[in-house]
Amino acid sequence: MKKTEAMKLLRAAALAAKNAHAPYSRFQVGAALLTDDQRTFIGCNVENASYGLTICAERAAVFTAVASGWKKFIAVAIVASGDKPPYPCGACRQVLAEFCGPETEILIAPISKLASYEETTLGELLPKTFKL
Ligand code: THU
Repeated sequence: MKKTEAMKLLRAAALAAKNAHAPYSRFQVGAALLTDDQRTFIGCNVENASYGLTICAERAAVFTAVASGWKKFIAVAIVASGDKPPYPCGACRQVLAEFCGPETEILIAPISKLASYEETTLGELLPKTFKL
């Protein structure tokens, strides 16, 4: 994906991260999905006092998109506070695999260094995916 296009998706994810509800971890995460018809859906992490009920930014974005009627994603941007690239957790990788192919591009960056994003694919992050 071209850098200008990637930066647009990363910036959408960074805006979503601002809405994170993360009073427990103080770790704000934002995700932005690009659909095959060029729409963008965003999500942020939403924590809960009952910690296990927390939902990650990536899954929030996927569920919003699916509820809106879009299910085919060609790229995903994931950003977070902190200074390390926020690789998606295993649960989110599996949920993404439901709606993305192994070639789906995953862009990852700390919010403070968006332009230094890392580019990988879902196939690389989750090889030998579980499928029914
Ligand atoms: N988190 C995400 O939003 N995405 C991930 O892939 C990993 C973790 C969130 C959940 C929780 O609110 C915070 O980061 C700390 O685990």
